[in-house]
Amino acid sequence: MGKTYDVATIIGSLRKESLNRKVANALAEVAPPELKVSIVEIGDLPLYNQDGDQNPPAPWTQFRDRIKAADAVLFVTPEYNRSVPAALKNAIDVGSRPYGQSAWNAKPGAVVSASPGGIGGFGANHHLRQSLVFLNVPAMQQPEAYIGGADKLFGPDGRLANDSTRKFLQAFMQAFSTWIAANTRA
Ligand code: FNR
Repeated sequence: MGKTYDVATIIGSLRKESLNRKVANALAEVAPPELKVSIVEIGDLPLYNQDGDQNPPAPWTQFRDRIKAADAVLFVTPEYNRSVPAALKNAIDVGSRPYGQSAWNAKPGAVVSASPGGIGGFGANHHLRQSLVFLNVPAMQQPEAYIGGADKLFGPDGRLANDSTRKFLQAFMQAFSTWIAANTRA
């Protein structure tokens, strides 16, 4: 059997009916078999506070351990006020500390943003990439994924009801698999 990769997916929205969660589920569904895609929840992470580095709350430790164990990270996020939602920034900050022990270091990554709006969360997507540069996450450049009109893409069952989007997401995950293999340290 060939190598498989554990892909930790982080969703920037906490709401139950999140379009981004639906996009994340669709990405998992169309991923090639070597990618084992799972969602890592961030909604219960206490707000990052540097004082907690001495005696971290259990959810921080669990989150850091889960990210460290992953082979790659996939971010699927809405745009809030042209940037990333606070919950996602919090998860990034929690994973990045204590200093010198960042869980993100050298994990191959990819970013997808989705919005009902026409520009598909471009601002959030690129603000997130700014943090990923600092965190030494090699983030796949192409294909870019700004999913606009995301409120029109899903059926009442919450599943993707748009063939061209499905094909695009499939190609995205195939490219991500190649990216992970190319950026994984032996
Ligand atoms: C938004 N929304 C939004 N959309 C966008 O395209 N650009 C933006 O800057 C913002 N800003 C913003 C701020 C806040 C606080 C909220 C709550 C919403 C709309 C947003 O894209 C929409 O609510 C999405 O449905 C949110 O993603 P989920 O929760 O469906 O995944």
